[in-house]
Amino acid sequence: EDLKRLASLLSTIKATLEDAEEEQFTNNTIKDWLLKLKDAAHILDDILDECATEALAMEYKGSKCGLSHKVQSSFLSSFHPKHVAFRYKLAKKMKRIRERLNEIAAERNNFHLPEMDRERKGGVPDWRQTTSIVTQPLVYGRDEEKDKIIDFLVGDASQLDDLSVYPIVGLGGLGKTTLAQLVFNHERIVNHFEPIIWVCVSNDFSLKKITKAIIESITKTTCEDLELELLQRKLQDLLRRKRYLLVLDDVWNEEQEKWQRLRFALACGEKGASILVTTRLAKVAEIMGTIPLLELSRLSDKDCWELFKQRAFGPNEVERADLVVIGKEILKKCGGVPLAAIALGSLLRFKREEKQWLYVKESKLWDLQGEDNVMPALRLSYLNLPIKLRQCFSFCALFPKDEIISKQLLIELWMANGYIASNQMLEAADIGNEAWNELYWRSFFQNTEIDESGQITTFKMHDLVHDLAQSVTNEVCCITYDNGLRTVSEGTRHLFIYDKNSFEEIKSIQLHHVKSLKTYVEWNFDVHEACQLSPQ
Ligand SMILES: Nc1ncnc2c1ncn2[C@@H]1O[C@H](COP(=O)(O)OP(=O)(O)OP(=O)(O)O)[C@@H](O)[C@H]1O
Ligand SMILES: [Mg+2]
Repeated sequence: EDLKRLASLLSTIKATLEDAEEEQFTNNTIKDWLLKLKDAAHILDDILDECATEALAMEYKGSKCGLSHKVQSSFLSSFHPKHVAFRYKLAKKMKRIRERLNEIAAERNNFHLPEMDRERKGGVPDWRQTTSIVTQPLVYGRDEEKDKIIDFLVGDASQLDDLSVYPIVGLGGLGKTTLAQLVFNHERIVNHFEPIIWVCVSNDFSLKKITKAIIESITKTTCEDLELELLQRKLQDLLRRKRYLLVLDDVWNEEQEKWQRLRFALACGEKGASILVTTRLAKVAEIMGTIPLLELSRLSDKDCWELFKQRAFGPNEVERADLVVIGKEILKKCGGVPLAAIALGSLLRFKREEKQWLYVKESKLWDLQGEDNVMPALRLSYLNLPIKLRQCFSFCALFPKDEIISKQLLIELWMANGYIASNQMLEAADIGNEAWNELYWRSFFQNTEIDESGQITTFKMHDLVHDLAQSVTNEVCCITYDNGLRTVSEGTRHLFIYDKNSFEEIKSIQLHHVKSLKTYVEWNFDVHEACQLSPQ
């Protein structure tokens, strides 16, 4: 009975953890409380695990003695001395955890966990609002992509009867909006299309809102709050027989139905009318696009440096050689993402001591506090993940940065940790495959390699995505020969040790204080040279 109650308590705790997760990024009290709760949940999880293992062992022994299941369990549970000792130990542990949970629950009353109403978060926050005006004084290295899009829009698209939808896809902060702005304001576009309309969609794909925004953009006056039916008619009056260009910036909506309804309303334009969509999600591009998506590449090191330099040094400042050397090292953190280059450059703008730069170089990206830090922007991708996938994603921080990861190994580790379970229709491995695909569709995974039969075997994660995964969990730890980490915190649940040459160093890593380790992977080059990663 006690066990059942605890198991049900654990699932309630998990739900609370999930609900409050979003708040922890902005509220430190909640963050602290959540850590305690998580800690207790792990202990509880371990107790349940222990019971399950013990029960299995008993069953196994019982079956060897030829006892039926019922008889063995009652027989063994009552009399076997080992089992009596186990029950005694277990009861003590359960009591302790129950008391701990009560304490934590009491603390909860000290503050109010916000009402969990996911729908409440409608509307686009100010910092996510975009407009058609290019905000960057100088845009680097996007000429090729810009020309490609413009050539298509004023060329091939103008021959097509159906509405063309051109998606631009890429990681947060890679410059999708900026590229769309460049296209939007280009002379060839301005001369070819009429009207040209910019709508910032963000997380709010409401038909009514978008329709209203389009009308307002064309008429340049505010539009009254009419019924959708009237709004759509008005929209069609404005767009009928027009070769318009509509930019839908920052789309997250994955519901095909919603898009279809908007598309029907927009299908009244002249031949050549087009829509340009920017999104982080390849799935959105798949749903909306009528032509193959444009996958935005990372900015070259040279361009990133220009961008960084422009922010980090004043316009007439002599660039100090020592800072330049460190700056180029710092820039490696950006992984070709302009948003990160700008954030790091701005952070260093008024820092002129070498040790301040070295500090930034040694720091984790998410520990750095700047006005326009890159983490909140990237975190949106995480918060947009379905809750069941969040654990699967943060677990990926287990692998070293820039490592080629075996897809199968990752899925097996997910399964072993119980992140995915089979249902009546599908095996766990298939569900794992689906989870992997979902993450892939969200641009979290890249550089995939396939075998002869076309199956994806290995992949990589972008540096910033790895940072994101690591920033949302402190339970996953990866020790590599070059990341300088040699200690494991007590809250670590998943540990990966990756050492190129010496077992000695691995042996010196202290683990006795780690309370609850679930995954332990040791990877040594001598043993597995050039073959795929496999756990020891
Ligand atoms: N090629 C570039 N040259 C200079 N600055 C750039 C370039 N690309 C992007 N930026 C700057 O980087 C920042 C992020 O760019 P942008 O907003 O276009 O990214 P995004 O891909 O739309 O991100 P999100 O997914 O969050 O919408 C902006 O400040 C932008 O001005
Ligand atoms: Mg954008």
